[in-house]
Amino acid sequence: MAAVQVKYRPVGVLAVLILLSTLAVIFLKSGRKTRALTKDLQSTRSAPKTVRDCLGYCACLRYTDPGCTEKINLVFIRTERTGSDVLASMFHRFGHERKLEFVLPRGGEDDLHLGWPGPVQLRHYRPRHTRHFNLLVERTVYNKHALRDVIPHDASYVTVLREPWAQFKSAFHYYRVGTVVGIQGDDPIAEFLQRAQFYDDVYTSSAAGSRRPEVPDGVSVTHNPMARDLGISERLWNNVTAINEQIKESSMGSVS
Ligand SMILES: *[C@@H]1O[C@H](CO)[C@@H](O)[C@H](O)[C@H]1NC(C)=O
Repeated sequence: MAAVQVKYRPVGVLAVLILLSTLAVIFLKSGRKTRALTKDLQSTRSAPKTVRDCLGYCACLRYTDPGCTEKINLVFIRTERTGSDVLASMFHRFGHERKLEFVLPRGGEDDLHLGWPGPVQLRHYRPRHTRHFNLLVERTVYNKHALRDVIPHDASYVTVLREPWAQFKSAFHYYRVGTVVGIQGDDPIAEFLQRAQFYDDVYTSSAAGSRRPEVPDGVSVTHNPMARDLGISERLWNNVTAINEQIKESSMGSVS
């Protein structure tokens, strides 16, 4: 914007008046625009809009691929040690900026999950304020029927998988598995793998509960935790056919 030097002469005063009235017009127009965008925002609650359509109120969203349709109803299934917290933060921000409604845990003592390590049920979440929930981002186990009772049927389902060996090592260290089960020595992972079932039973036992504060009894952090969070039942873990069927049935599209 060019700088304007104002002198106290009639021409200068006139120039200032013209400038002020122009600014007033611009302000009025932008006010009208904001109201229109607010209306627009409300309408996105029922219908998905393209990213291009919503540029006005999500100023931080610079991605303007016109072929990309913004979906506002979404379930994010968190998995252990896979970067899920980072993605969850992004989904939180996405929802807050659009004033969407989240499924939130009731938040009693030790109750910050949505049913995890099981599926979500009515008693786990707070009542909604709008016509329907848009986003479910807190921890739960994927279960198609349970989720369909909570979130609109057109919702997108998103999860994140990590290469299993890298995921295993990360979980082993993060949950201090070696220490909890009492493994000594230089290479606790090698020792753990010698007797994986035995050590897993020790880790998940109630006797080890006090040394394992974040994890409930009976929940393994080293034995197929991603499969468990995606709702693949333990009795199928050794049946490749059944697992493939289940993956096909949940038909999550994949992004890598
Ligand atoms: C594995 O799963 C398939 C498909 O669900 C089933 O037909 C088969 O009997 C299962 N095999 C075993 C050994 O349980």
